[in-house]
Amino acid sequence: MTMRFANRFDGKVALLTGSAAAVKGELMGFGGATVWRFLEEGGRGVVITDVQDEVGERAAQQLRDAGHDALYMHLDVTEEQDWAKVVEATLDHFGQLDILVNIAGILDTKSLLDIEPAVWKKTMEISSVGIFLGTRAVARPMEQTGGGAIINVSSMAAKQGSGLYGTAYSFSRGGMLNFTQSSAIQLGSMGIRVNTIMPGWVRTPFTDYLYRDPEQNKFRTERVPLGRWGTPEDIAGGILFLASDDAAYMTGGELLMDGGVSAGSIRIKNPRSDD
Ligand SMILES: NC(=O)c1ccc[n+]([C@@H]2O[C@H](COP(=O)([O-])OP(=O)(O)OC[C@H]3O[C@@H](n4cnc5c(N)ncnc54)[C@H](O)[C@@H]3O)[C@@H](O)[C@H]2O)c1
Repeated sequence: MTMRFANRFDGKVALLTGSAAAVKGELMGFGGATVWRFLEEGGRGVVITDVQDEVGERAAQQLRDAGHDALYMHLDVTEEQDWAKVVEATLDHFGQLDILVNIAGILDTKSLLDIEPAVWKKTMEISSVGIFLGTRAVARPMEQTGGGAIINVSSMAAKQGSGLYGTAYSFSRGGMLNFTQSSAIQLGSMGIRVNTIMPGWVRTPFTDYLYRDPEQNKFRTERVPLGRWGTPEDIAGGILFLASDDAAYMTGGELLMDGGVSAGSIRIKNPRSDD
């Protein structure tokens, strides 16, 4: 079978936050599915980062064993010094940085009356301070090597009031859309495109506890017009579209990949389903 985009990322280097879950044979996150496909489509190298160092190191080793150029580095996205170290190491090793994917996030599904203020602050800090620090850390290096693409992983929860996802989570994800627009305006002349992807329910380490709970799983599956949860590979397809020249004229935009959940409620039984 021929690969349509076999060389789409020739010579490109990508840095991803929150991407430790990239070990083949284990449940992968968005970062994992993205790095493997990026490298298979010609990418020169990747820098996986996270706060989960053990699994991140194993993932990078597995990528190197498969013949790819991959580094793992500890990066707490809320720490400015971590960003400085990681970007410096990326440039030392590769001499360039073309793509940043901001994936790091946490989820507490509590209501505004129940959530702990400390968890609220942490959720906000990771989503908003994290992408702010990351965007600032990569902008000049990207400009110096001819521009780049930043992809902020938000959520379909970003545009709806919270009942289901958690108030801090929805609020923080909504802010990412607005930050993406400001970044797109301010970095466009530097040759940097900035876009948001808004995934729906996807089975990753982030949501596995919901996926494996029969009641939670059924509740969600029934609300997806396409009738299934997404896979990390589904979302990697969107991330890599935004990272590639296929999206060369797209910046400040949003890519919704939620199986149709946000299109509206399913109120009647699907006439094509068997049950
Ligand atoms: N899986 C879904 O259904 C879904 C849907 C919509 C949006 N998202 C978003 O995708 C991201 C989760 O990605 P995933 O589903 O691949 O799950 P994942 O659990 O593999 O990735 C999230 C990673 O973020 C890391 N992280 C947490 N705090 C961090 C910090 N301070 N600094 C750096 N890393 C940190 C975690 O260690 C984890 O590895 C979140 O931002 C979430 O909002 C997920």
